[in-house]
Amino acid sequence: MNDLKVIVAPDIRLNQISKSINYIEKNISIVLDKMLECMYKNNGIGLAAPQVGILKRLIVIDCSNNKENKRPLKLINPEIISFSDELADYEEGCLSLPAQFAKVTRPNKIKLRYRNSKGDKIEKNFIGLEATCIQHEVDHLNGKLFVDHISKLRKNIIIKKLIKYKKKINTHG
Ligand code: NI
Repeated sequence: MNDLKVIVAPDIRLNQISKSINYIEKNISIVLDKMLECMYKNNGIGLAAPQVGILKRLIVIDCSNNKENKRPLKLINPEIISFSDELADYEEGCLSLPAQFAKVTRPNKIKLRYRNSKGDKIEKNFIGLEATCIQHEVDHLNGKLFVDHISKLRKNIIIKKLIKYKKKINTHG
């Protein structure tokens, strides 16, 4: 499998609904490892499969912010089954929206149901940055970006900047 490349918005592939994994294939583990490698290489804390052109419900995250003591999480078919009423604000960024940031308000706690890379069914609570990160990545699986949580005006400014950025990249290699 080749190295994965992050797709930059705007791109139609980032607006699709990804498909569930029906059974745990051996290949899925390889894809998840490649996704983690790609995420670390780009200094991200989360990556969803559609960001690398794979329209499947796969997510990797690592909010440890510690290169010596990594805490990777591989999530297959993640499903948020409850949200707290309590909210939290985070300045969000995204590998698909390079150098763009905006404050997004989301529930501070979630309960997540998912399968791990061994295929075990797991239910777990997440809080704070991890909860935000997972919500952000699950949005990707539903074709949504963090800019869909802010005003249309601010979203348009960011999208215009990204169009310019992509033109520059395409012209200069
Ligand atoms: Ni993202």
